[in-house]
Amino acid sequence: FNVPKAINEPVKSYAPGTPEREQVLAAYRKMWNEQIDVPLYIGSEEIRTGNTQNMSAPHDHQHIVGKYHLAEKSHVEKAIATALEARKRWSKMSWENRAAIFLKAAELIAGPYRAKINAATMIAQSKTIHQAEIDAACELIDFLRFNVEYMSQIYQDQPISDSSVWNRLEHRPLEGFVYAITPFNFTAIAANLPSSAAMMGNVVVWKPSDSQIFSAKVIVDIFKEAGLPDGVINVIYGDPVMVTDTLLASPDFAGLHFTGSTHVFKDLWAKIGTNIHNYKTYPRIVGETGGKDFILAHPSANVKQVATGIVRGAFEFQGQKCSAASRVYIPSSLWPAVKAQLETDVNSMKMGSPEDMSNFFTAVIHEGSFNKLASYIDQAKQDTDAEIILGGGYDKSKGWFIEPTVIVTTNPKYKTMETELFGPVVTIYVYEDSKWTETLELIDTTSEYALTGAVFSTCRYAIEEATIALENSAGNFYVNDKPTGAVVGNQPFGGARASGTNDKAGSMLNLLRWVSPRTIKETF
Ligand code: ALA
Repeated sequence: FNVPKAINEPVKSYAPGTPEREQVLAAYRKMWNEQIDVPLYIGSEEIRTGNTQNMSAPHDHQHIVGKYHLAEKSHVEKAIATALEARKRWSKMSWENRAAIFLKAAELIAGPYRAKINAATMIAQSKTIHQAEIDAACELIDFLRFNVEYMSQIYQDQPISDSSVWNRLEHRPLEGFVYAITPFNFTAIAANLPSSAAMMGNVVVWKPSDSQIFSAKVIVDIFKEAGLPDGVINVIYGDPVMVTDTLLASPDFAGLHFTGSTHVFKDLWAKIGTNIHNYKTYPRIVGETGGKDFILAHPSANVKQVATGIVRGAFEFQGQKCSAASRVYIPSSLWPAVKAQLETDVNSMKMGSPEDMSNFFTAVIHEGSFNKLASYIDQAKQDTDAEIILGGGYDKSKGWFIEPTVIVTTNPKYKTMETELFGPVVTIYVYEDSKWTETLELIDTTSEYALTGAVFSTCRYAIEEATIALENSAGNFYVNDKPTGAVVGNQPFGGARASGTNDKAGSMLNLLRWVSPRTIKETF
């Protein structure tokens, strides 16, 4: 197909002495004191309502990095009207011209804006540079490039015709606007949800998470510079109930692109159901929600690989990935060695500000998250069927710091084996080696979620058994690797059950949700 071949953006090292390290630190220090003022973006207008909220850095919560302006209902209504006006032209624009905008955005991020978008993600989402780089730079660039390639394939894939009949398939944009609700934990996901729908010719009202608005502003500025016409993606913040109710009440609501919590997604689905008689068209509903992601070690597993999988899978970005490993099953024969390796690995890593690039752990996103995690840790300290073997400390004096914590439980249904915590707390259940089959059953039935999971083994029979038995337990299943870090174009991402609609982010499947095809048969 005649589009640039999508390639994954190489991950930069940020090793001491590299230019990228100096650039990102300079950007960090500049943005730290900039006091950015983030307006609503509605069409060509940047609206400052004067009703503002401060943004702070999770690792230094007294430090205000800027503020954003909250929408009133009239602004949300204006965003809808503006999007629908923009739709008249955008929905008719050739896909090649739309593609060019997003390919240019990818190049702007890969080059001149890489340091800025990484620094914004480090400051207000408290990512280490390595976690920012794989997200705000590489994954975001990959989403844009690969989605353009998938888009080109969608538009060029046509049904069979012959000399007397010409069949055509038009991939029309949805008839209305798409509402994108995005999470704090991935800058790439935040950008992908509105941009993938827009790429397919739709207009969007985007509500980023309050905790991600700092980097959302960088994204908006990049899309503008890349040539995205006014009104195609409108950005609002405000009382979530008011914003959502206003948008879902519109007869032109045509799709929801959501990443966030399971209960919010279910509430949205119910509200859409309540309003269903008002809509011109059945809305598309695409959601990626929670996870209670597992690691399973077989007695044949390599101990070092298992320990690395746990530390990286559970603790990178403080466990705040929907894909993060949070329940682990280790055979008793391996447990002493895995435990010793975990202690060595975790104790060798430091916690603190992302500005100090030797830190592996930083703060969790906000006070609510800190309090929730602290309460589960306190409870585990009291429960007789749980023991904290690593971490267990927390300190909110400067930032929302929770130590990476390993709980070992004798109860496979212990609450932290079942409940999504979204933080650096992992729970381990040690099973008898002879109970492999029962453990597979246990994994499948312990959680309502089915997002990611990993099996570690050097035995092919065991790998096959786990792959079959856990068929419905994870939408992304890893063999001898951590369950996080899906790469666009390599491992399409998403899960079913309570984890979402499994419309695989970064795939053609996802883009197809944002079109309403028309079949044309012409007889000669
Ligand atoms: N796509 C992200 C990952 O795989 C959530 O970790």
